[in-house]
Amino acid sequence: MNLHHDIPSLRHALRGRGRIAFVPTMGNLHEGHIALMRAAREHADTVVASIFVNRLQFGPGEDFDRYPRTLQADSEKLAAAGVDALFAPTESDLYPEPQGYFVEPPDLQHLLEGEFRPGHFRGVATVVLKLFNCVQPQVALFGKKDYQQLMLIRAMTRQLALPIEIVGVDTVRAEDGLALSSRNAYLSPKERQEAPRLIETLRALRGRLLAEGITRREILEQEAVETLDKRGWKTDYIAVRQQADLLPPQEEGRKLVIVAASRLGQTRLIDNLEV
Ligand code: PAJ
Repeated sequence: MNLHHDIPSLRHALRGRGRIAFVPTMGNLHEGHIALMRAAREHADTVVASIFVNRLQFGPGEDFDRYPRTLQADSEKLAAAGVDALFAPTESDLYPEPQGYFVEPPDLQHLLEGEFRPGHFRGVATVVLKLFNCVQPQVALFGKKDYQQLMLIRAMTRQLALPIEIVGVDTVRAEDGLALSSRNAYLSPKERQEAPRLIETLRALRGRLLAEGITRREILEQEAVETLDKRGWKTDYIAVRQQADLLPPQEEGRKLVIVAASRLGQTRLIDNLEV
């Protein structure tokens, strides 16, 4: 596997490499990321990963400074997974001048995650478009773990007519159900034991939603929040939404997803469950 820090060297290496599949990440890689790399292999001749902790998508009080940076271990994992090229730019490689042009996503950016992380999706969309331009892939893969992110990137790709196919990959979980995440590294042993309660709560909510019907949605959402918060969590939201647009269910028969974000100590965890 070749490692590239700057855009010219990456572009040069990718010339004539056939169909390219691209997986952008922020590093500190786990099996969830590796599942994306494996899926990428099925879509293309050449698999390119990127590692870049993107300052633009972190809010002022967030974990940009302490986000785990583990390039050496990450590149070994990527090489073992058969990735052909790794793009790991420094900040001055990717943002040699202050970024003054941004991708402003539509209103969906202000809902759910966006309500608690203002500006987050603008930062994500901007860096993803820029990375797309660096790599120029035919296909790009994103995890369903970040459901709203996947949806916004699909919409950006459509609305800006980017010639890229976007593929969503199912969430990889630990044996006890916790969705793998780089942020799980922040959890104390006690918090790690408690953490699967998030997906368990979403599963219980799904069961009751199916049994009691969509009209009970708001009561069930509220009860789920209380279940977690009574155990010491601080829940930002638990919401039953339409898969198609992440808006509250407008009518019967629409495909639904339950999305959630909650804080355990200093660690903010997100997860979701399709209904
Ligand atoms: P990061 O959090 O590193 O995630 C990179 C990709 O891995 C995303 O598409 C994410 O949805 C996926 N992923 C994370 N955990 C997963 C899991 N348990 N199962 C399956 N997929 C998982 O998301 C970002 O980085 C950034 O916002 C980025 C898109 C790179 C832009 O900076």
